[in-house]
Amino acid sequence: MNVIYLDNNATTAVAPEVLEAMLPYLTTYYGNPSSMHSFGGQVARALKTAREQVADLIGATPTEVIFTSGGTEGNNTAIRSALASFPDRRHIITTQVEHACVLNLCKRLEKEGYRVTYLSVDRRGQLDLLELEAALTGDTALVSVMYANNETGVLFPIDAVGDLVKSYGALFHVDAVQAVGKVPIHLQNSPIDFLTLSGHKFHAPKGVGALFVRRGVPFRPWLIGGHQERNRRGGTENVAGIVGLGQAAVLAKHHLTAMTMQVQALRNRLEQAILATIPDVVVNGQGSPRLPNTSNIGFKYIEGEAILLLLDREGICASSGSACTSDSLEPSHVLKAMGVPYSVLHGSIRFSLSRYTTAAEVERLLAVLPGIVAQLRSLSPFTDDESDWLEQRTHALMAAG
Ligand SMILES: Cc1ncc(COP(=O)(O)O)c(C=O)c1O
Repeated sequence: MNVIYLDNNATTAVAPEVLEAMLPYLTTYYGNPSSMHSFGGQVARALKTAREQVADLIGATPTEVIFTSGGTEGNNTAIRSALASFPDRRHIITTQVEHACVLNLCKRLEKEGYRVTYLSVDRRGQLDLLELEAALTGDTALVSVMYANNETGVLFPIDAVGDLVKSYGALFHVDAVQAVGKVPIHLQNSPIDFLTLSGHKFHAPKGVGALFVRRGVPFRPWLIGGHQERNRRGGTENVAGIVGLGQAAVLAKHHLTAMTMQVQALRNRLEQAILATIPDVVVNGQGSPRLPNTSNIGFKYIEGEAILLLLDREGICASSGSACTSDSLEPSHVLKAMGVPYSVLHGSIRFSLSRYTTAAEVERLLAVLPGIVAQLRSLSPFTDDESDWLEQRTHALMAAG
């Protein structure tokens, strides 16, 4: 199918080189890396190489890398581990704009008796470090903050946050699922104790990822099982996935400069052309440092889902928020936390590019989008008035077919 795929923050295409690296581990080399025989031993060597490759991408040492099933497991493991390591501390700090796998875990932890502070963000999606400092106490076990927001691409000042966290003796976890492969990450001299990454956001397959745990930081495994991952994560390894993750890490490092040059140039072209050709448009997160590949654009007075539907008919994939919450009609918790007004909130679309996105694809989007927006606006009864919103959006969605 000939799609224009502008939804790379939801997931990415597996790179051909990644698939090629994986295939022998789904066919010829099917041994168990924990086996004593040499048939398994060669698979164990492939895991070792992949661990070195992932460590190299993030500036860590290989023993600091634990392979996981992806971002959700990494985040759950890091947060649970930090709490188990500090049983006397009952306070967690996170932000209002984290991914569902952090926010829903924190809600669960509140039920288990922990106190959770959800830091606010401003209109640009930025944290207030004074608010963080005021929230930190000697009871804070963990601060968990994302590197880059999946919906807006806004980057948090991770080093400044980490320095504050360290001054209170708490552990610092960073969900870097959207940042790895898109911005340089060097963990060697950083205040980060735990860092989560997920392969399918940078051209490895779904269902594989890694958790960085700094050497010397106390760690409690979440999955209890065999001796895999040096007793830190039980379960026979997803060998082919891990080999793919390693190869994707090598490619991500190789393409990092291109990511910040070419992809960012295409993203800027997309953004500037939309701002120039379509009235009543805002870029959510503008004014903050952002990922080079992400643009979250609010089209006032129309419904984001209706835009997506009409784009879909043109073979263009975009998103109105996180893929994990897209089946709910609730507007984005991230944009709500940023105080985005109602007239913009419901009409916000995320375009996320990859190194495979071409200029021709962006031009195709730019050719069809103004017509789609004009068509929907001509049908739209929306105003800045928040009242009767549900009725209005049902009407608009029906009108869009
Ligand atoms: C910021 C962020 N954290 C965590 C996740 C979850 O990662 P995974 O899909 O690998 O479980 C995602 C996925 O969208 C994400 O964007």
